[in-house]
Amino acid sequence: MLGSGFIGEFHTLGLRHVPDCRVVANYGAGAERREAFAGRFGSRPFDSIESLCADPEVDLVVVSLPNHLHVEAVRAATAAGKAVACTKPLGRNASEAFEMVRLVEDGGVFHAYLENVVFGTEMIRMREMIEAGAIGRPITFRAREGHSGPHAVHFWDADLSGGGALLDMASHGAEAARYLFGKDVAVRDVFAWGATLVHGDRTTGEDNAMMIIRFEDERAATCDVSWSSKGGLEGRFEVYGEAGRLIQDITSTPLRGFIERPAGYIGEKADVDTGWVFPVPDETHVHGHDAMMQHVVESFRSGTTPRETFHDGLVVNEILDAAYRSMSSGTWEPVARATAPVAA
Ligand SMILES: NC(=O)c1ccc[n+]([C@@H]2O[C@H](COP(=O)([O-])OP(=O)(O)OC[C@H]3O[C@@H](n4cnc5c(N)ncnc54)[C@H](O)[C@@H]3O)[C@@H](O)[C@H]2O)c1
Repeated sequence: MLGSGFIGEFHTLGLRHVPDCRVVANYGAGAERREAFAGRFGSRPFDSIESLCADPEVDLVVVSLPNHLHVEAVRAATAAGKAVACTKPLGRNASEAFEMVRLVEDGGVFHAYLENVVFGTEMIRMREMIEAGAIGRPITFRAREGHSGPHAVHFWDADLSGGGALLDMASHGAEAARYLFGKDVAVRDVFAWGATLVHGDRTTGEDNAMMIIRFEDERAATCDVSWSSKGGLEGRFEVYGEAGRLIQDITSTPLRGFIERPAGYIGEKADVDTGWVFPVPDETHVHGHDAMMQHVVESFRSGTTPRETFHDGLVVNEILDAAYRSMSSGTWEPVARATAPVAA
């Protein structure tokens, strides 16, 4: 496990039900935090990405590091001939993502893109219902994702992280749209707005953004994201078809309570721990991490291609690059495809 922070812990928890699988090694900045993680999960702490990747006990490297370290991590994993799975966004931009695709293909190693939203139970059910014809042909898709701002400094440094709320959050919505519409339909162009409206003292990146993705067949998806949304994590995904609609809200928990005394962790990005609260039961399951990690390990073991690969991460980065160009130009921007040959 490269990265023993927020998502490193979610990925580790996601692996806990996978038979004969465990996190044997972990890396993170800061010896204290690294060792605390190792103590909690029974892994061995490493002080460099390279030494972890080279360790003979490691079969699959999971990249749970800040965005600016993803390429370096994939380079180290492939140099050691290891399979690799990487969190979203794959790169800070499409050229980084393209380099990561090149590294895994040249190295001939297994690769998986860790996009948990398309592994959520409700999202999978939505897709099954679409396949069963429940809403006819899906026509439009809408994602709303928000919270009151990231928990770690690297997200706020737009140069380091590669962008603001759009890159951070619309990466989920863009892939969810592709999953529900079908990946055989390419994205044609993108229109986007973004602005720094609330957190100008903390970031030069956009803290609110909206993006319209137009597919080759004229269907469209909108992603509306925010780093200034009060009241806890928002994750709503809606698909509208010729014969109905399907709507999910990953943050509408079956459990709610009014509490006057804090009881510890409530859920990701919860703004309050007293008053009306919405504790998330089994969060890694609800958010798709359990199913995702199980699928990745099973695919790796059976030598099959996982549902989400670095190619999907690259497409998402290409969409987001076009969105950032559109934010500057104020016009629709075509999605530029990678030009060098990559295997299908
Ligand atoms: N799928 C999701 O829903 C989701 C949610 C949160 C984060 N993420 C992604 O996970 C990645 C990491 O985010 P996080 O929230 O776990 O961050 P975090 O700050 O909580 O953890 C980052 C980890 O990387 C380590 N690290 C190593 N070198 C570092 C450096 N130079 N600067 C900062 N940290 C360093 C830290 O020590 C820590 O272990 C990002 O790419 C982010 O987009 C995905």
